[in-house]
Amino acid sequence: MLEPLILKYRGKKGNMIPLLQGTMDIYGYLPRKAFEKISVETGLNLSDMFGVATFYAQFRLNPVGKNIIKVCHGTACHVQNAKEITEAIEEALKIKDGETTEDRLFTLESVACLGCCSLAPVMMIGEQTYGKLTGNESVKIIKNIRIAESN
Ligand code: FES
Repeated sequence: MLEPLILKYRGKKGNMIPLLQGTMDIYGYLPRKAFEKISVETGLNLSDMFGVATFYAQFRLNPVGKNIIKVCHGTACHVQNAKEITEAIEEALKIKDGETTEDRLFTLESVACLGCCSLAPVMMIGEQTYGKLTGNESVKIIKNIRIAESN
């Protein structure tokens, strides 16, 4: 799957970012095998690529779930106990912050201010924003998504 991408950028100046972006487009994250293949075929340095991939937030080193749960831990949400939401979801999904469920349905992430502080504490799943949450409510929302996905 990587061949056309590598052919397009091989030998071009400043090709590292477009190669990493193209790999993200294909896999949704940057698999280790892809790094190795790109390095072998283009001569780009493996540790330079890792450096760039870990520096920019747009790149992911691990696979993500279909639904990315973003729990806001900005100041307003922090004060309104965002921690409780993250902990409730961690317990319900049996994953830690930053991880993905085995069925690849959910990834849990802590993020900075989502820009709707008056609704604190807030989480976002896809384009949908949920505000003034409790831990229990956030778990209920996730359970409903799981039910909807299984239908
Ligand atoms: S701090 Fe959470 S939305 Fe602003």
